Amino acid sequence: MKTIDELLAEGVAGRRVFVRADLNVPLDGTTITDDGRIRAVAPTIAKLAAADAKVIVASHLGRPKGAPDPAFSLAPAARRLGELLGTEVAFATDTVGDSARETVAGLGDGQVAVIENLRFNPGETAKDDAERGAFADQLAGLADLYVGDGFGAVHRKHASVYDLPARLPHAAGDLIATEVGVLKKLTDDVERPYAVVLGGSKVSDKLAVIGHLLEKADRILVGGGMVFTFLKAQGHEIGASLVQEDQIPAVQAYLERAKERGVEFVLPVDIVVADAFPDLKTKAPAAHETVPADAIPAGKMGLDIGPETGRLYAEKLADAETVFWNGPMGVFEHPDFADGTRAVARALVDAPGFTVVGGGDSAAAVRILGFDEAAFGHISTGGGASLEYLEGKTLPGLAALED
Ligand code: 3PG
Repeated sequence: MKTIDELLAEGVAGRRVFVRADLNVPLDGTTITDDGRIRAVAPTIAKLAAADAKVIVASHLGRPKGAPDPAFSLAPAARRLGELLGTEVAFATDTVGDSARETVAGLGDGQVAVIENLRFNPGETAKDDAERGAFADQLAGLADLYVGDGFGAVHRKHASVYDLPARLPHAAGDLIATEVGVLKKLTDDVERPYAVVLGGSKVSDKLAVIGHLLEKADRILVGGGMVFTFLKAQGHEIGASLVQEDQIPAVQAYLERAKERGVEFVLPVDIVVADAFPDLKTKAPAAHETVPADAIPAGKMGLDIGPETGRLYAEKLADAETVFWNGPMGVFEHPDFADGTRAVARALVDAPGFTVVGGGDSAAAVRILGFDEAAFGHISTGGGASLEYLEGKTLPGLAALED
């Protein structure tokens, strides 16, 4: 993989450099609630601009359906990038149309533009190679060089991630280099005890990584919405909590495998429950109570791990030399259900070893809950991407930068 410094050494002054970033930030209307991903890629963009490149920044945001949708505009991200760089950032209101071409043509050396959400064009995410390729051809027409630095999207076989680098001389940005370096540490020469904390809502999203980590980790702690599929697999009542019934056999097999391997598989001992999912817009106080994890009352919905579980998980992380955490422990966006996620974040801060927070949601959670980013070993910008890397999969966006 060519580094950005090698690309700079070859000379980028006056050249149009397409930077595939991941500016997929959480928005409340047009307000960015966590700008971590923009801050993470800003140094790469600044480096190219300082070397007098004409920098074209591109990204997806959300999952629009292949057509323009103002709710998913990158305009707020472009504004924030300008603030962080301390310079004016031009904005094209399309991806490969008149606005993009004119905006790029108007760039002076050392100037930066953001083009509109790549997923406003169906070619970006098309399954059909020819359709993706045709869009990649159009994108290639905008630039002379390509820098891949959208780590959060490298697991996607999308036009700007996978097909475009094959069409332009390319290099990996500094963010991708850092992320891959950290994940290598978790796969190649991990220091033990190695503890993994997995949360988030869907157990099906995490099954592959659990299977892989069962062969690597010493301890796996589970929280978040997916925990109820585990509790149900153990024969417990889970009330009205989220469950993926079809995943129960797979979960049972993993619990067996953990026993065989001597991997400590830790599930919550208590759960915070309510009658219904809370209102995340108003954040109005929600009536809630803590109940034993093996006796959730009928009709109650589990929304966070309980305080005893928070203490138990902190104990399990206290001597860990390596910790990887992906996925919130509860509905942290609501103050009544944020304590479990806060307890795990605090335990990572206090853990003596190398700690990695992986995932858009858990990364956003630690910042939104007010933790100092510097207190963690690494906060990844990739959720699905870091999980798929740990699963040992070939990631299209990394493979495309290899040759
Ligand atoms: C993410 O949020 O994990 C990345 O930006 C990828 O987004 P996607 O899951 O919509 O492809």
